[in-house]
Amino acid sequence: MLYSILLGATLVAQACAQLTGSVGPLLSAYHKGNVKVCDIRNYGATSSADVGPPIVAAWTACAAVGGLVYIPPGSWPLRTRVDVRGGAGNSIAIQWDGTIYRDSTTMTYQMFTFTNVNDFELFSGNSKGALQGYGYQYLSTGTYGVRMMRLVGVTNFSVHGIAFVDSPSYYIVFDTCSKGEVYNLILRGSTTLGATDGIDVTGDNMWLHDIEVTNGDECVTVKSPASNFLIQGIYCNRSGGTAIGSLGLDTAIENIQYQHLYMNEADACFLKSNGGSGYVTNVSWRDVTVHGSAYPLTIDLAWGTDNGGPGITVSNLEWMNYFGYNDVHTRAAIRLQCSDSAPCYGLTLNNVHMWTSDGGVVTYGCTDAYGVGACMVNKPASPKPAAYTSVQSVTTTSSLVGAATMAADFKTALSPTGTIAIPAIPTSFYPGQTPQSALLALTTVI
Ligand SMILES: *[C@@H]1O[C@H](CO)[C@@H](O)[C@H](O)[C@H]1NC(C)=O
Ligand SMILES: *[C@@H]1O[C@H](CO)[C@@H](O)[C@H](O)[C@H]1NC(C)=O
Ligand SMILES: *[C@@H]1O[C@H](CO)[C@@H](O)[C@H](O)[C@H]1NC(C)=O
Repeated sequence: MLYSILLGATLVAQACAQLTGSVGPLLSAYHKGNVKVCDIRNYGATSSADVGPPIVAAWTACAAVGGLVYIPPGSWPLRTRVDVRGGAGNSIAIQWDGTIYRDSTTMTYQMFTFTNVNDFELFSGNSKGALQGYGYQYLSTGTYGVRMMRLVGVTNFSVHGIAFVDSPSYYIVFDTCSKGEVYNLILRGSTTLGATDGIDVTGDNMWLHDIEVTNGDECVTVKSPASNFLIQGIYCNRSGGTAIGSLGLDTAIENIQYQHLYMNEADACFLKSNGGSGYVTNVSWRDVTVHGSAYPLTIDLAWGTDNGGPGITVSNLEWMNYFGYNDVHTRAAIRLQCSDSAPCYGLTLNNVHMWTSDGGVVTYGCTDAYGVGACMVNKPASPKPAAYTSVQSVTTTSSLVGAATMAADFKTALSPTGTIAIPAIPTSFYPGQTPQSALLALTTVI
C-alpha cells in the first residue's frame, strides 16, 4: 500500500514536469458569473429559433465585461455557425448545460470557432451539456458536413464536462493554443469512416486528461508545433488512436508525456511522417494498454505521401509499462521504422510486452532505430552507425498479463445508421483509475 502510494506520487511528480507552468482559466467561472450572466434566452434563444445568433449576442455582451454565457438545459437548434473572438475584457466563460444540435445542411467550417480568447472556460455545469451533430445523415452516404469546434490561439483556458456526439466530420481542433486544460469529455460517433478526427492539438503547455473517444479516425492526436504536453487517462473506445502526426516540414515537437492510455481497438503510439523536416524529441508513453489495433507501437517515417525534406529527427523516446497486442500477426507488433537519412536515436523500450491476437508468433521490426529493446541496435548518433534492418520473431503465449480491460469496452463497429444517443461522461478512463477532477453537478447557473 505504502509502496503504491509512493509510486503514485513519483509518477505524478514526473508527469507534471512536462508542463512548464500553470494551465487553465485565470479567473473562476464563479467570479465571471458574479460579474454578469448572459443567459441566451435573454438574447432570443427559444426551442425552435436558431441558437447561433443568441449565443453570439450573449457572448458579445459578456465578453465586454468578463462575464458568463449561460446555455440552460433544453434542446437548442443550431443553423448558423458561432464564430467569436475574445472581447475587450478578455475574460469569459460559457456554462453549457443543454443540448445544441445541428439543424442545417449549409453551415461551413465549424459550428463553433473561438479565436484569440484569453482566460476562457467552456464547461458544462451539470455535466450534461452536449453538441449533437447528427453526422450519420452525411456519413451514411459516405459524405461529410461541417466540423464541430475549433479553438485558435486560445490561452489560459479549460474545456470540460461536455459530450460531442456524431460529428459530420472532425470534432475538436486546438490550433496553437496554450496553457489549456481539457478534461472530462466524451466524443462519440460512428467508427467506420475516416476524416472524423476526435481531438487534434497543437500549441504549448496543454494538459489533456480523462477523455473518451469513439470515432473512425484520430483519437487524441498531437500535431506540430507542440511542446510541454501532458496527456493522461485517454480511453480510445474504438478509434484511430493517440498518434503523433502526420508530420511534414518544420516539425517542432518536444516534451510530450503520455500516461494511462487505454486503447480498445486503437493505436497508442503511431508516429508517422514521410520526409518532412524538424524534430520530435523527449516523448514518453507510460502505463499503456492496447487491446487490439493495427499499429499498437509504431514509428513509421515512410507513411503516406512524401512531404519533401530530409526527414524528421526523432530522438529520446521512451515506452514504459506498455502492454498489448495487435490484430494481425503478419504485421509487426512493435515497428520502429526510421531510415538511413532520418535515423531515430535514444529510443528505450522498458517493460514493454506485445502480443498478437491471431497467432503464436509475433514479429518486431526495426529499421535504423537506435536504442534499447526489441530488435533495436544500441548505438549513439555519432559516429553515424551503418544502416540496418532487423526483424525479430517471438513466440508468444496468449497471456495478456497486465492488460486489464474496461467493463464497457465497445465490442463491435458503430455504423452511421441512425441517431447516436448522447452518452454520459464516463467516471473512469483507465482501468482502476478515477478522473483527476470530479464531474460538476450544478442544477442552476453557477
Ligand atoms: C496567461 O496567463 C499567464 C499567467 O499564468 C500570463 O502571464 C499570460 O500573459 C496570459 N496570456 C495572455 C495571452 O494573456
Ligand atoms: C529533454 O529532457 C531532458 C531531461 O528530461 C532535458 O534536459 C532536455 O532539455 C529536454 N530536451 C528538450 C529539447 O526539451
Ligand atoms: C464504449 O462504447 C460502447 C458502444 O458505444 C458503449 O456501450 C460503452 O458504454 C462505451 N464505454 C464507455 C466506458 O463509455
